[in-house]
Amino acid sequence: MTDADSADPALEGWALPTAFRDPAHAPVAADALELVGGTPLVRVNRLAPGAPGTIYVKLDQYNIGGSSKDRIGIGIVRSAIASGELRTGQRIIDFGAGNTAIGYALAGLATGHPVTIVSSPSLSPEKANLLRFLGVDIVPGRADVPSDHPENWAAIAERYEREDPSNWWARQQSTPANPQSHIESTGPEVWAQTDGAVTHWLAAVATGGTVSGTGRYLKTRNPLVQVIATDFAEKVDDSNLRQIFERRPGWEELERDFPPNIELDVIDAIETRSRAEVIDYGWHIARTEGLVLGLSSALSLKIAVDLAYRVDPGSVIVAFSADSGRDYVSREYNADWLRENGFAEIADTYSPAS
Ligand SMILES: Cc1ncc(COP(=O)(O)O)c(C=O)c1O
Repeated sequence: MTDADSADPALEGWALPTAFRDPAHAPVAADALELVGGTPLVRVNRLAPGAPGTIYVKLDQYNIGGSSKDRIGIGIVRSAIASGELRTGQRIIDFGAGNTAIGYALAGLATGHPVTIVSSPSLSPEKANLLRFLGVDIVPGRADVPSDHPENWAAIAERYEREDPSNWWARQQSTPANPQSHIESTGPEVWAQTDGAVTHWLAAVATGGTVSGTGRYLKTRNPLVQVIATDFAEKVDDSNLRQIFERRPGWEELERDFPPNIELDVIDAIETRSRAEVIDYGWHIARTEGLVLGLSSALSLKIAVDLAYRVDPGSVIVAFSADSGRDYVSREYNADWLRENGFAEIADTYSPAS
């Protein structure tokens, strides 16, 4: 850094590396799928100045397919082939927001299984195009209608399997192979990368596989590790999940309408933030720390930063990043999209109209 750079308080704690990483340690893989798992942790240096806790982000966008879901794509397909559940040439079907389908596609290409994903209109254009590029069939479905509605995305996956025996529904929401993938990989990685010093584990919840599997593993190593599930306030604050988890009055009467892979006995707390706060923070993270994180990652990191001020000195907080901000640059990380979709204030903060 020059003297002029160091005089700018906004640049404090930020510097170019003095050298590139040791070329002798650049990994060599025997094939693409070997590049799943083993993702880096990066320390957060500027978002929580003066906080007693240290924060790291586990960057699962470093998996070859671009998200944490590569792990479960491999884990679920491998286990279903081994048990004989997935037979030669069968088509893999599931529903979801796109990342798992990329994982299934990579595992399916390697094993001769085509893939169909039932998705919802919130599928980002970046992911949709990548799925088509990988040969995945995309079937439109809806997440916002009850499970007995014919357009419900789970109902469509169930129907595809029932009506055509050449289809096999992978069931990421309930298969034990989902959390097991994290018990075998993500958990041991976080433990090793922090030399067993991790005190808090935060991950966003959809199927629950990441927070539950990794959390379960970390608690076997140290039962005091705090496992924090993160979610969007709009999705979870009034949900049965939250009411049952917090044993709010009347919780015993509520239906367990959330994925079986959300293991409540592993989770210590559910923390939420609003969608607008998280989108804003995603931009802030990029501009402050140089990290380009997806929205569920920005959510977990925001909660990790707030937590870092409340924990004991020496605490090591690991927030999970499931995918990259690159997957959102035509939506939440695009000023025009923000202005058209009710988030003009965020657009004006980071990308003022000139
Ligand atoms: C971007 C992103 N973040 C978080 C999650 C949640 O992970 P899990 O399904 O393991 O709860 C998903 C899963 O769909 C995801 O795609």
